[in-house]
Amino acid sequence: MVQINPSILSADFARLAEEARRVGGPEGADWLHVDVMDNHFVPNLTLGVPVVESLRKATDTPLDCHLMIEDPDRWAPQYVEAGAGSVTFHAEAAAAPVRLAREIRAKGARASMALKPATPIEPYEDLLPELDMLLVMTVEPGFGGQAFLDVMLPKIRRTRQLIDKHGLQLWLQVDGGVSASTIERCAEAGADVFVAGSAVYGADDPAAAVRALRAQAREAADGAAGTCAHQRTARGA
Ligand code: DX5
Ligand code: ZN
Repeated sequence: MVQINPSILSADFARLAEEARRVGGPEGADWLHVDVMDNHFVPNLTLGVPVVESLRKATDTPLDCHLMIEDPDRWAPQYVEAGAGSVTFHAEAAAAPVRLAREIRAKGARASMALKPATPIEPYEDLLPELDMLLVMTVEPGFGGQAFLDVMLPKIRRTRQLIDKHGLQLWLQVDGGVSASTIERCAEAGADVFVAGSAVYGADDPAAAVRALRAQAREAADGAAGTCAHQRTARGA
């Protein structure tokens, strides 16, 4: 199922409650993507636990917290307690990813792990059953509005193959440079959860941008599934 998660990194931080409502409602955002940066793991600083607590009270849209921070083993559980429905830590920063994923799940949230562009998926194949979502970054984390890295498409495809090989229900998220001109390639490669910051909040009508991105991704995903079925039929399978 295709899901669209607007990133509030591109919203007005002085009016977050209103900005959350602008993308909510029927056919609106599936999740609100909240980028937490500590100025150590990435060269930028955004927000922390108190803002997540307040945002939780201000919107019914579930919160997808993307922790671009050092020592997520220490901090991630606090984001679950603050009300996040999904918590993503970075593979490069976690000391004990399996223990951390189990702790996030035990506290009641979906556990997710992110990979920076230069981090391969293959070493993490055996960890995938411990996760509810895998995030393939399609820009270097740290800032919104960067250009989509096409070179990440093979990693998205290989990750989808691993998920299917193990028969997992894992969601595959992409984040960075996702827009009307790149979302179809991501969906065709096998992503099903799409983070979009500037493409949503930079639009005149952010809610309409969410709907348009979802329609594009659905169509591309259906087309890719149709092609696979066609290939299977052609091979006589
Ligand atoms: C970047 C963040 C993204 C960012 C995406 O490090 O993780 O979530 O908001 O912004 P766009 O969609 O503008 O690339
Ligand atoms: Zn993010």
